[in-house]
Amino acid sequence: MKDNFNRKIKHIRFSITSKCQYSCLYCDSEGYSKTNELSVEEITKLCKILAEILDVTKIKFTGGEPLCREEIVEIIKNVSELNLYKDISLTTNGLLLSEKAEELYKAGLNRINVSLGSLKPKVYRKIYGVDTLDQVLEGLEKAKTVGLDPIKLNYVLMKGLNDTEFEDILNFCAKNGFILQLIELHEVSDVLGGNGDFYAKHHLDLSPIIKDLESRATKTIIRGSMQNRKVFILPNSAVVETITPSHEFCMGCTKLRVGCDGNLFGCLYRSDLGKNIKEALRNHQSLSKYEQIVKQVVDSREPFY
Ligand code: 5AD
Repeated sequence: MKDNFNRKIKHIRFSITSKCQYSCLYCDSEGYSKTNELSVEEITKLCKILAEILDVTKIKFTGGEPLCREEIVEIIKNVSELNLYKDISLTTNGLLLSEKAEELYKAGLNRINVSLGSLKPKVYRKIYGVDTLDQVLEGLEKAKTVGLDPIKLNYVLMKGLNDTEFEDILNFCAKNGFILQLIELHEVSDVLGGNGDFYAKHHLDLSPIIKDLESRATKTIIRGSMQNRKVFILPNSAVVETITPSHEFCMGCTKLRVGCDGNLFGCLYRSDLGKNIKEALRNHQSLSKYEQIVKQVVDSREPFY
C-alpha cells in the first residue's frame, strides 16, 4: 500500500509494552500509552493482518523495553510461525539479553538493535539512569554467540556527555563485528513530554562528523528504503550508519507504527493522527474493515512531521 506521496509502506514498528527499567535522559517515550496493552493473540493477529494488507515482510518490536513484556518469546515465535515475515528484529536496552537471547533466536528473532551510549560505567549510568553496563556487554556477547545477526548498536551522540567516545565505540564495534548506528539527538515533541532544555544543551549537529566519515570511508551506501540513511565502510572494516532527522529523512520514511494499545500511526511525532484497531480486533471484524482502518492511517502520512 502506498501513501499519498507515493511511498510504499515497507515495514512495521510495533511497540508491545510501555514498561521499561531504564530512564534514559533522551527518551522519546515511543510506545507510551496509558491504556491496556494488546494481548499476545491480538498482537499475532494484527501482525498477520498487516502483512496481508500491506504486503510487508519486515517487522521491528520495540517498547518501552520489549524484553519487559513477559511473553516476548511467545510473541516472536507466533509471528515467526506465521511465515509471513522474512526479517524480525527488536530494539532493546540489552539488560535482559544474556538471559533471553538464545530463546529469542530459537523462536525466530533474526537481529537486534541495542542502545549503547557509552562504554564508561559512570557515563552509562548518567545517560540511562541505571548501573548496568556490564550486564549489557554480557548480553551483547551472548547475542553474538547464539547467532543474532546483524547486531546494531544505537549510539545517540550528546554534547558534553558521550561525544568524546565516538572513536572508542567505533573500534569496539569493528572488533566485535557490530554495526554502529550514529544517531543525532532529536527533539521530543511536547505531546510526548518534551526534552526542550536537555535538547538545547546536548544536541550536536552531526554534519562535521559525517563529512569526516565520508572522507575516511572506503565505501558509502545510501539506504534509499530506510529514510535515505548513509552507511560508511571504514578502512578497519567498521560499518557506521548515520541517522539525522531532517526533511530528507522524513521524505524517505516507509514505516507504519503500532502502539502497544493498538494505535496505528504513521509517525512518531503524529500519534494523534492514529487510528486504534483494538476494538476491531476484539470484534473479529472482516479483512475489509481492517483494510479501511489501515488505509485511513496510511493516507494520514505527511511528507514531514
Ligand atoms: N533522540 C535520538 N534517539 C532517540 N531514541 C530515543 N529517544 C531519542 C532521542 N530523543 C532512540 C535511541 C534508542 C532507541 C530505542 O530510540 O537510539 O536506542
